[in-house]
Amino acid sequence: MHDMTLLYAADAGRADEWREALHDMAPELQVQLWPDATDLAAVRYLVAWSFMPDLVARLPNLQVIFSTGAGVNQFAFESIPPAIKIVRMLDPAIREGMIEYAVFATLALHRDLLTYRQDQRARRWAPLTAPSAARRRVGVMGLGDLGTAVVEQLKSFGFPLFGWSRTARSIEGVTCFSGQDQLPSFLGHCDILICLLPLTPATQGILDDALFDALPIGAGLINMGRGRHLNEADLLRALDDGRLSGAILDVLIDEPPPHDHPFWLHPKIMLTPHIAGTTSPPSAAGVLVENLRRHRAGLTMLGEVRRDLGY
Ligand code: GLV
Repeated sequence: MHDMTLLYAADAGRADEWREALHDMAPELQVQLWPDATDLAAVRYLVAWSFMPDLVARLPNLQVIFSTGAGVNQFAFESIPPAIKIVRMLDPAIREGMIEYAVFATLALHRDLLTYRQDQRARRWAPLTAPSAARRRVGVMGLGDLGTAVVEQLKSFGFPLFGWSRTARSIEGVTCFSGQDQLPSFLGHCDILICLLPLTPATQGILDDALFDALPIGAGLINMGRGRHLNEADLLRALDDGRLSGAILDVLIDEPPPHDHPFWLHPKIMLTPHIAGTTSPPSAAGVLVENLRRHRAGLTMLGEVRRDLGY
Protein backbone atom coordinates (compact mmCIF):
# COMPACT_ATOMS: atom_id res chain seq x y z
CA MET A 1 0.00 0.00 0.00
CA HIS A 2 1.36 3.35 -1.07
CA ASP A 3 0.44 5.09 2.17
CA MET A 4 2.20 2.48 4.31
CA THR A 5 5.76 3.45 3.54
CA LEU A 6 8.21 3.76 6.38
CA LEU A 7 11.75 5.09 6.11
CA TYR A 8 14.30 3.68 8.55
CA ALA A 9 17.10 6.18 9.09
CA ALA A 10 18.54 5.03 12.43
CA ASP A 11 21.49 2.78 13.38
CA ALA A 12 22.51 1.06 10.12
CA GLY A 13 23.89 -1.90 12.08
CA ARG A 14 20.39 -2.73 13.32
CA ALA A 15 18.50 -2.02 10.10
CA ASP A 16 18.10 -5.69 9.15
CA GLU A 17 16.76 -6.60 12.57
CA TRP A 18 14.23 -3.77 12.37
CA ARG A 19 13.22 -4.64 8.83
CA GLU A 20 12.70 -8.28 9.73
CA ALA A 21 10.70 -7.50 12.87
CA LEU A 22 8.51 -5.01 11.01
CA HIS A 23 8.00 -7.41 8.14
CA ASP A 24 6.89 -10.17 10.53
CA MET A 25 4.40 -7.95 12.31
CA ALA A 26 3.16 -5.74 9.48
CA PRO A 27 3.86 -7.35 6.10
CA GLU A 28 1.85 -4.62 4.37
CA LEU A 29 4.40 -2.01 5.45
CA GLN A 30 6.87 -0.89 2.76
CA VAL A 31 10.19 -0.38 4.54
CA GLN A 32 12.86 1.75 2.87
CA LEU A 33 16.33 2.19 4.29
CA TRP A 34 18.16 5.50 4.37
CA PRO A 35 20.24 6.46 2.41
CA ASP A 36 19.19 3.92 -0.28
CA ALA A 37 15.52 4.97 -0.27
CA THR A 38 14.22 5.44 -3.78
CA ASP A 39 10.82 7.02 -3.25
CA LEU A 40 10.96 9.73 -0.61
CA ALA A 41 7.56 11.14 -1.61
CA ALA A 42 5.91 7.88 -0.53
CA VAL A 43 7.30 8.06 2.99
CA ARG A 44 4.63 8.58 5.67
CA TYR A 45 6.61 7.37 8.67
CA LEU A 46 10.20 8.01 9.65
CA VAL A 47 12.11 5.91 12.19
CA ALA A 48 15.17 7.76 13.39
CA TRP A 49 17.48 8.36 16.30
CA SER A 50 18.95 11.67 15.25
CA PHE A 51 18.77 12.82 11.69
CA MET A 52 20.06 15.46 9.34
CA PRO A 53 17.67 18.42 9.69
CA ASP A 54 17.24 18.57 5.90
CA LEU A 55 15.98 14.97 5.68
CA VAL A 56 12.51 15.92 6.94
CA ALA A 57 12.35 18.70 4.35
CA ARG A 58 12.84 16.05 1.67
CA LEU A 59 9.85 13.99 2.86
CA PRO A 60 6.83 15.99 1.65
CA ASN A 61 4.24 13.47 2.91
CA LEU A 62 5.75 12.64 6.26
CA GLN A 63 3.18 12.24 9.04
CA VAL A 64 5.01 10.75 12.02
CA ILE A 65 8.59 10.60 13.28
CA PHE A 66 9.30 7.67 15.60
CA SER A 67 12.36 7.95 17.82
CA THR A 68 14.19 4.64 18.22
CA GLY A 69 15.06 5.76 21.75
CA ALA A 70 13.15 6.70 24.86
CA GLY A 71 14.20 10.32 24.47
CA VAL A 72 13.40 12.88 21.78
CA ASN A 73 15.66 15.72 22.92
CA GLN A 74 18.03 14.96 20.05
CA PHE A 75 15.46 16.17 17.51
CA ALA A 76 15.47 19.85 16.54
CA PHE A 77 11.73 20.40 17.02
CA GLU A 78 11.81 23.79 15.30
CA SER A 79 12.96 22.15 12.07
CA ILE A 80 9.98 19.75 12.08
CA PRO A 81 6.70 21.14 10.68
CA PRO A 82 4.00 21.26 13.40
CA ALA A 83 1.67 18.86 11.56
CA ILE A 84 4.22 16.06 11.88
CA LYS A 85 3.76 14.03 15.05
CA ILE A 86 6.78 12.95 17.09
CA VAL A 87 6.73 9.75 19.16
CA ARG A 88 9.04 8.52 21.94
CA MET A 89 9.90 4.83 22.04
CA LEU A 90 8.16 3.03 24.89
CA ASP A 91 9.96 -0.26 24.28
CA PRO A 92 9.47 -2.83 27.07
CA ALA A 93 13.12 -3.82 26.58
CA ILE A 94 14.26 -0.26 27.42
CA ARG A 95 12.03 -0.33 30.49
CA GLU A 96 13.48 -3.66 31.67
CA GLY A 97 17.03 -2.41 31.17
CA MET A 98 16.33 0.78 33.06
CA ILE A 99 14.81 -1.17 35.95
CA GLU A 100 17.86 -3.43 36.14
CA TYR A 101 20.26 -0.53 36.03
CA ALA A 102 18.41 1.50 38.64
CA VAL A 103 18.34 -1.50 40.98
CA PHE A 104 22.02 -2.27 40.43
CA ALA A 105 23.07 1.36 40.93
CA THR A 106 20.86 1.92 43.97
CA LEU A 107 22.18 -1.24 45.63
CA ALA A 108 25.76 -0.34 44.68
CA LEU A 109 25.45 3.02 46.43
CA HIS A 110 23.46 1.56 49.32
CA ARG A 111 26.13 -1.11 49.90
CA ASP A 112 29.12 1.27 49.48
CA LEU A 113 30.52 -0.46 46.40
CA LEU A 114 32.37 2.64 45.20
CA THR A 115 34.33 2.66 48.47
CA TYR A 116 35.03 -1.07 48.29
CA ARG A 117 36.24 -0.67 44.70
CA GLN A 118 38.84 1.80 45.94
CA ASP A 119 39.68 -0.33 48.96
CA GLN A 120 40.34 -3.34 46.77
CA ARG A 121 42.81 -1.38 44.64
CA ALA A 122 44.58 -0.28 47.83
CA ARG A 123 44.56 -3.86 49.27
CA ARG A 124 42.49 -2.49 52.13
CA TRP A 125 40.01 -4.79 53.96
CA ALA A 126 37.68 -2.41 55.75
CA PRO A 127 34.10 -3.46 56.35
CA LEU A 128 31.59 -0.65 56.75
CA THR A 129 28.24 -0.86 58.46
CA ALA A 130 25.46 -0.38 55.93
CA PRO A 131 22.18 0.93 57.29
CA SER A 132 19.19 -1.29 56.64
CA ALA A 133 17.21 -0.50 53.49
CA ALA A 134 14.44 0.77 55.74
CA ARG A 135 16.76 3.59 56.72
CA ARG A 136 18.01 4.50 53.22
CA ARG A 137 15.62 6.82 51.45
CA VAL A 138 15.54 6.68 47.66
CA GLY A 139 14.06 9.39 45.46
CA VAL A 140 13.21 9.24 41.78
CA MET A 141 12.96 12.39 39.67
CA GLY A 142 10.63 11.80 36.75
CA LEU A 143 7.60 9.55 37.26
CA GLY A 144 6.75 8.69 33.67
CA ASP A 145 6.87 5.24 32.12
CA LEU A 146 10.43 4.58 33.30
CA GLY A 147 10.41 6.33 36.67
CA THR A 148 7.22 4.57 37.69
CA ALA A 149 8.57 1.16 36.64
CA VAL A 150 11.79 1.77 38.58
CA VAL A 151 10.07 2.88 41.75
CA GLU A 152 7.74 -0.13 41.63
CA GLN A 153 10.73 -2.49 41.50
CA LEU A 154 12.58 -0.65 44.28
CA LYS A 155 9.63 -1.32 46.58
CA SER A 156 10.73 -4.92 46.98
CA PHE A 157 13.87 -3.90 48.90
CA GLY A 158 12.06 -1.89 51.57
CA PHE A 159 13.64 1.50 50.89
CA PRO A 160 11.42 4.43 51.87
CA LEU A 161 10.54 5.81 48.44
CA PHE A 162 9.98 9.36 47.22
CA GLY A 163 9.10 10.68 43.80
CA TRP A 164 9.10 14.03 42.08
CA SER A 165 7.46 14.97 38.81
CA ARG A 166 6.35 18.06 36.91
CA THR A 167 2.68 17.40 37.52
CA ALA A 168 1.22 15.69 40.58
CA ARG A 169 1.27 11.89 40.58
CA SER A 170 0.06 9.39 43.08
CA ILE A 171 1.79 6.02 43.46
CA GLU A 172 0.95 3.65 46.27
CA GLY A 173 3.79 3.35 48.75
CA VAL A 174 5.67 6.34 47.32
CA THR A 175 5.60 9.82 48.81
CA CYS A 176 5.12 12.00 45.74
CA PHE A 177 6.05 15.64 45.26
CA SER A 178 5.50 17.80 42.21
CA GLY A 179 6.44 21.09 40.68
CA GLN A 180 9.28 23.48 41.31
CA ASP A 181 7.86 24.56 44.70
CA GLN A 182 8.07 21.07 46.16
CA LEU A 183 11.46 20.19 44.75
CA PRO A 184 13.47 21.23 47.85
CA SER A 185 11.19 19.24 50.19
CA PHE A 186 11.53 16.19 47.94
CA LEU A 187 15.32 16.50 47.80
CA GLY A 188 15.58 16.70 51.58
CA HIS A 189 14.39 13.04 51.69
CA CYS A 190 16.78 11.59 49.10
CA ASP A 191 19.78 9.68 50.47
CA ILE A 192 20.01 8.26 46.96
CA LEU A 193 18.67 10.34 44.07
CA ILE A 194 17.88 8.81 40.68
CA CYS A 195 17.38 11.12 37.69
CA LEU A 196 14.97 9.70 35.12
CA LEU A 197 13.70 12.99 33.75
CA PRO A 198 13.29 13.80 30.09
CA LEU A 199 15.74 16.44 28.88
CA THR A 200 13.87 19.66 28.16
CA PRO A 201 14.75 23.35 28.51
CA ALA A 202 13.16 23.13 31.98
CA THR A 203 15.32 20.22 33.16
CA GLN A 204 18.65 21.00 31.49
CA GLY A 205 21.30 21.47 34.21
CA ILE A 206 18.82 20.62 36.98
CA LEU A 207 21.45 18.48 38.77
CA ASP A 208 23.47 21.46 39.96
CA ASP A 209 24.94 23.07 43.07
CA ALA A 210 21.58 24.30 44.36
CA LEU A 211 20.07 20.82 44.02
CA PHE A 212 23.06 19.15 45.69
CA ASP A 213 22.75 21.65 48.57
CA ALA A 214 19.16 20.53 49.14
CA LEU A 215 20.09 16.81 49.47
CA PRO A 216 21.02 15.23 52.81
CA ILE A 217 24.79 15.44 53.40
CA GLY A 218 26.56 12.44 51.83
CA ALA A 219 23.78 11.57 49.37
CA GLY A 220 24.46 9.46 46.29
CA LEU A 221 23.47 10.38 42.74
CA ILE A 222 22.42 8.16 39.83
CA ASN A 223 21.95 9.82 36.45
CA MET A 224 20.15 7.67 33.90
CA GLY A 225 18.51 10.58 32.11
CA ARG A 226 20.69 12.66 29.85
CA GLY A 227 24.19 14.05 30.30
CA ARG A 228 22.87 17.59 30.06
CA HIS A 229 20.77 17.18 33.17
CA LEU A 230 24.02 17.35 35.11
CA ASN A 231 26.30 20.30 35.72
CA GLU A 232 29.54 18.31 35.70
CA ALA A 233 31.67 20.96 37.43
CA ASP A 234 29.08 21.26 40.21
CA LEU A 235 29.14 17.48 40.71
CA LEU A 236 32.92 17.48 41.09
CA ARG A 237 32.69 20.22 43.71
CA ALA A 238 29.93 18.41 45.62
CA LEU A 239 31.91 15.13 45.64
CA ASP A 240 35.12 16.84 46.64
CA ASP A 241 33.59 18.75 49.56
CA GLY A 242 31.60 15.73 50.79
CA ARG A 243 28.07 16.97 50.10
CA LEU A 244 27.75 13.93 47.86
CA SER A 245 29.37 10.56 48.57
CA GLY A 246 29.25 9.04 45.11
CA ALA A 247 27.73 9.13 41.65
CA ILE A 248 26.86 6.47 39.12
CA LEU A 249 26.44 7.96 35.67
CA ASP A 250 25.23 6.25 32.53
CA VAL A 251 25.03 9.45 30.48
CA LEU A 252 27.44 12.33 29.95
CA ILE A 253 27.46 15.60 28.04
CA ASP A 254 30.12 14.21 25.69
CA GLU A 255 29.80 10.49 24.98
CA PRO A 256 32.48 9.28 25.12
CA PRO A 257 34.03 11.92 27.35
CA PRO A 258 37.44 13.27 26.26
CA HIS A 259 40.52 11.35 27.41
CA ASP A 260 41.38 13.90 30.11
CA HIS A 261 37.85 14.20 31.51
CA PRO A 262 38.05 14.25 35.34
CA PHE A 263 35.24 11.69 35.69
CA TRP A 264 37.26 8.82 34.17
CA LEU A 265 39.46 8.24 37.20
CA HIS A 266 37.41 9.90 39.91
CA PRO A 267 37.25 7.51 42.89
CA LYS A 268 33.68 8.49 43.71
CA ILE A 269 32.28 8.20 40.20
CA MET A 270 31.31 5.06 38.33
CA LEU A 271 30.71 5.51 34.61
CA THR A 272 28.90 3.24 32.18
CA PRO A 273 28.69 3.97 28.44
CA HIS A 274 24.98 4.81 28.04
CA ILE A 275 23.84 1.21 28.28
CA ALA A 276 21.19 1.36 30.98
CA GLY A 277 18.25 0.81 28.66
CA THR A 278 18.70 -0.25 25.06
CA THR A 279 16.08 -0.55 22.35
CA SER A 280 15.47 -4.08 21.13
CA PRO A 281 14.09 -4.11 17.56
CA PRO A 282 11.76 -7.13 18.03
CA SER A 283 9.89 -5.61 20.97
CA ALA A 284 10.23 -2.00 19.77
CA ALA A 285 8.76 -2.96 16.39
CA GLY A 286 5.72 -4.31 18.22
CA VAL A 287 5.16 -0.94 19.88
CA LEU A 288 5.71 0.84 16.58
CA VAL A 289 3.23 -1.34 14.71
CA GLU A 290 0.64 -0.79 17.43
CA ASN A 291 1.24 2.95 17.02
CA LEU A 292 0.77 2.75 13.25
CA ARG A 293 -2.56 1.08 13.90
CA ARG A 294 -3.53 3.80 16.36
CA HIS A 295 -2.43 6.55 14.03
CA ARG A 296 -4.48 5.18 11.19
CA ALA A 297 -7.48 4.85 13.51
CA GLY A 298 -7.09 8.48 14.56
CA LEU A 299 -6.09 7.54 18.11
CA THR A 300 -3.33 9.00 20.26
CA MET A 301 -0.13 6.99 19.91
CA LEU A 302 1.79 5.51 22.84
CA GLY A 303 4.57 7.95 23.68
CA GLU A 304 3.22 10.74 21.49
CA VAL A 305 5.22 13.86 22.28
CA ARG A 306 3.76 17.13 23.44
CA ARG A 307 5.89 19.66 21.67
CA ASP A 308 5.07 22.45 24.09
CA LEU A 309 6.60 20.35 26.89
CA GLY A 310 9.44 18.91 24.84
CA TYR A 311 8.67 15.25 25.66
C1 GLV B 1 18.50 5.98 25.35
O1 GLV B 1 19.05 6.81 25.99
C2 GLV B 1 17.18 6.12 24.83
O2 GLV B 1 16.69 7.27 24.72
O3 GLV B 1 16.55 5.10 24.53
